[in-house]
Amino acid sequence: MENSDAALIEKIESLKKRRKAIFLVHNYQLGEIQDIADFVGDSLELSQRAAKTDADVIVFCGVHFMAETASILCPDKVVLLPDVHAGCPMADMITAKRLREKKKEYPKAIVVCYINSSAAVKAESDVCCTSANAVRIVEKLTDAEQILFVPDQYLGNYVATQTKREMILWPGFCPTHVRIQPRDITRLRTEYPQAKVVVHPECKPEVIALADAVLSTGGIIRLARETDAEEIIIGTEIGILHRLRKENPGKKFIPVSEQAVCPRMKLITLETILWSLENMTHQVKVSERIRLRAKAAVDKMLEG
Ligand code: 13P
Ligand code: SF4
Repeated sequence: MENSDAALIEKIESLKKRRKAIFLVHNYQLGEIQDIADFVGDSLELSQRAAKTDADVIVFCGVHFMAETASILCPDKVVLLPDVHAGCPMADMITAKRLREKKKEYPKAIVVCYINSSAAVKAESDVCCTSANAVRIVEKLTDAEQILFVPDQYLGNYVATQTKREMILWPGFCPTHVRIQPRDITRLRTEYPQAKVVVHPECKPEVIALADAVLSTGGIIRLARETDAEEIIIGTEIGILHRLRKENPGKKFIPVSEQAVCPRMKLITLETILWSLENMTHQVKVSERIRLRAKAAVDKMLEG
């Protein structure tokens, strides 16, 4: 660690104590941010952790929809997103207005929304899901005549193949995960014949078809810990490699693509966290009218 980082971290830690803050950090964040976290996890684990915190302030080191979900679950806390531009492009591929129009086309459909969506879109949905529980959530919808899945077409397609349910898919996608190409997996399998291949369900179907396991980022962390394999090929955003290597020093982790970087996730830095705590900005707050409806969809997911 550089001296300047150590000085920054000292200031951050002292202000954090004064503000009674907690740092919730996604698995894709920069290594130095993961290292000062109170908790590092996937979207589901982070929302569960937010729901039970007794801190006054939640500093969300991730993207906007994650901070919004914390605000939906903890309306009395101050939720800070250190960079206002840290949004998820996939979440921006759908709006509440466009979803309302689609619902008119399919009036009988149950709407399942991926957590990578705005609070306003969640408010228009029946149940929320994350990549960790999407298959289970859809499996439980036994009475649904039709399922409209938004906004990730690739997660939706993966869930459809696992549940054998016919689903109407919104054409959204993650610009980072579509950079992961099947030919890179094929090449790495030849180079590392003993390796296990694990990918995120936001990848394209032709990538998923080549994987040994398809898991959320939290699932990838658990698999890495539990597997006997010593080499693991990772098909997701490369920020996760920091935690994988730190927790499993004896194992080798090979990214499918060094280009699988989510630029918005990387906007959170030590500097922006300090600035955020000093100025108590940017506060993410969902209006009560939207929050109550969005919370119903999130609660339905968290109930199991
Ligand atoms: P996880 O919930 O698996 O961490 O995924 C979040 C995400 O944004 C993946 O791109
Ligand atoms: Fe959104 Fe993709 Fe970034 Fe995840 S990796 S936050 S889905 S753009």
